[in-house]
Amino acid sequence: MKSILQHHWERQVPKLCSIGLIFTLSMFVLFSSNSSTIIRKGTPRGKYIETPNRGGCDLFKGRWIPDSEGSPYTNSSCPTIPQLWNCLRHGRKDRDLVNWRWKPDGCELSRFEPKTFLRIVQGKVLAFIGDSLAQNHMESLICLLSQEERPTPALEDVEDPFITWYFPIHNFTIMKIWSRFLVKSRESSTKAYHAYLDKVDEDWSQKLQGINYAIVDTGNWPPHKTYIYKGNDRIGCLHCREPNITNLPHGFVLREVYRTALKYISTCNDCRDLTTILRTISSAHPKKGSWGSGGYCRRTRPLREEEISIGGSPWESRNIQLKEFRRAKTENRDKGKKYDVIDVTRAMLMRPDGHPGLQHGEKWRKAVDDCLHWCLPGPIDVWNDFLLAVLRKGAAINT
Ligand SMILES: *[C@@H]1O[C@H](CO)[C@@H](O)[C@H](O)[C@H]1NC(C)=O
Ligand SMILES: *[C@@H]1O[C@H](CO)[C@@H](O)[C@H](O)[C@H]1NC(C)=O
Ligand SMILES: *[C@@H]1O[C@H](CO)[C@@H](O)[C@H](O)[C@H]1NC(C)=O
Repeated sequence: MKSILQHHWERQVPKLCSIGLIFTLSMFVLFSSNSSTIIRKGTPRGKYIETPNRGGCDLFKGRWIPDSEGSPYTNSSCPTIPQLWNCLRHGRKDRDLVNWRWKPDGCELSRFEPKTFLRIVQGKVLAFIGDSLAQNHMESLICLLSQEERPTPALEDVEDPFITWYFPIHNFTIMKIWSRFLVKSRESSTKAYHAYLDKVDEDWSQKLQGINYAIVDTGNWPPHKTYIYKGNDRIGCLHCREPNITNLPHGFVLREVYRTALKYISTCNDCRDLTTILRTISSAHPKKGSWGSGGYCRRTRPLREEEISIGGSPWESRNIQLKEFRRAKTENRDKGKKYDVIDVTRAMLMRPDGHPGLQHGEKWRKAVDDCLHWCLPGPIDVWNDFLLAVLRKGAAINT
């Protein structure tokens, strides 16, 4: 099986490399023009909205504290670890990456327990719907679960934008469905996209009836020209410098995209046992800037609470996501649809040290300084601690 898995990854990596490159370039552009917004003190639009969870404690508000327990898996014990995010192999010290634990203010977050997770999801299908960060999240979950049960790739076709893994003992399926905008989109050249705000992306919507847990995220779009349509009209553009075309704010497009996706989900009659989980935006870190340690995402320690600032574009995006999500939840309270949130924005803002970046002294990532995706193992694994907390709440399992 190992060779199948390796083979699988060898085939995935070129695709992921180009995705990584696009995103990295995009973040470079974003932050080179805009890096001051992320470190400036908060504006009202970027204020932290509480995400109350169990017993009034906000699991997503807290800090990283040292913890020598480390990660439940290593680059050797996870058979599917993507080389692109295998930072240990490329010179990162595991104690820097994994000897930290997320400590919510006022409560504790349990560490990931693969047995409990697999018990809850037995016989179910979980889908990650989104871009390469959704892939990053999925790879973390697979590494964590494979310490208990090794999955088999159920479908392997790199031409196909989705990948499926199957855990035979628990009859559990994980799939990744590629959807850059969540709404219908196309690419007319390597540098231009077209996104249709009022049409849901059928790549995921047509698979939704078979899914029990849908983890949805979008928003880290590449800085390419993106023509935006609504109805039959082209209403504007992102990143255009053309006369007669309105440049639309990112936040406007993000709001419309979520509205359309969530509306589809809430009116889906065949989705009988579906829980929709919003993962909030995981912002990139500026490669240059005043993080206090000489810049880059090449830090070796997390930031403290007082070192991050609430405000700027990641907060605006997160708040838009949360608002749309709450609206869907409120409007569909009686329709039996379940919604939950994994609000990673704050925790991840504090981990500029958790990216592949340019590995210390290594040539590995020389061409691609990746301050957007996350090392495995690394701080992204907390997304699955959060996910388990959310599933436990839903399943009312208190073990
Ligand atoms: C795991 O990382 C170590 C360094 O910590 C490295 O020597 C080893 O080759 C890596 N193994 C794999 C399978 O990537
Ligand atoms: C496995 O789970 C699927 C739903 O995901 C279900 O339809 C099927 O009956 C299950 N198979 C077994 C053997 O339990
Ligand atoms: C822009 O609009 C003006 C007035 O409607 C028109 O004369 C001009 O040709 C348009 N330019 C382009 C590039 O479409």
